Amino acid sequence: MKVIAHRGASGEYPENTLLAFKEAIKQQADGIELDIQYHQSNDFVLLHYYYLDKTTDGKGSINDYSLADLQKLNAGQNEFIPTLKQALKLIDGKCLVNIEIKSAETNNYALIKIFQLLKQVLNHAIAHYNFTWSQFVVSSFNHPLLAEIKTSLPKISTAALTASCPVDYAECALQLSANNLNPSIEIISQQLIDDAHQKGLQVWVYTVDREEDILKCYLYGVDAVFTNYPAQTKCYINQLSQDDNNVVKTVKK
Ligand code: G3P
Ligand code: MG
Repeated sequence: MKVIAHRGASGEYPENTLLAFKEAIKQQADGIELDIQYHQSNDFVLLHYYYLDKTTDGKGSINDYSLADLQKLNAGQNEFIPTLKQALKLIDGKCLVNIEIKSAETNNYALIKIFQLLKQVLNHAIAHYNFTWSQFVVSSFNHPLLAEIKTSLPKISTAALTASCPVDYAECALQLSANNLNPSIEIISQQLIDDAHQKGLQVWVYTVDREEDILKCYLYGVDAVFTNYPAQTKCYINQLSQDDNNVVKTVKK
């Protein structure tokens, strides 16, 4: 089971900052999840919330600021709000990157602008840093957006986020030609995971910090977990697989 650092190593460092990503790499996370918002300067900035007061010393929303002024804000421990380009430069292919698009946009013209920019940023990362296409996953709760993205970025892996268990289980992800179903820990069941696997989808679950939840995901056969504490979570998973090996050895005797 892979470990993805949720907003970086955000349990100990300010979320969606270069510091949190650096620490996630140090903690040997298999991947980093980050949230992107489209900024009017035609750039992506890394913020979970559209409004600034939750995680920075700014007020109002991201588009009340120029990009330069936005980057002067304190996002915690004197870290600044990075752009997606800056984050990818730092991560430099050292692990997977799950890019979560935070957008409620469904207007085709606006979506195309988002996709064109994303394509440009990812092409730049492939050309200049040590990434391969297989290291990127784009996810969103906005399923109409996911339905359209592959027309602009056919090579990209996608993940349908869901906070509720759909009546037809993983079917919605299949309809979007997604590669993953990424559900909340609060709604997972063995049925949901098995259905996704039978449909050839991977299941990455958010946000999994507690040992009971890590164990649940492990036993259900989840493919990856998003956690705020990558080192701790990795350590607990290693312990679980060690226990499994010991059981197998004991049975063989
Ligand atoms: O991508 C997994 C997770 O980050 C989705 O929820 O609200 O933490 O962005 P949220
Ligand atoms: Mg997220």
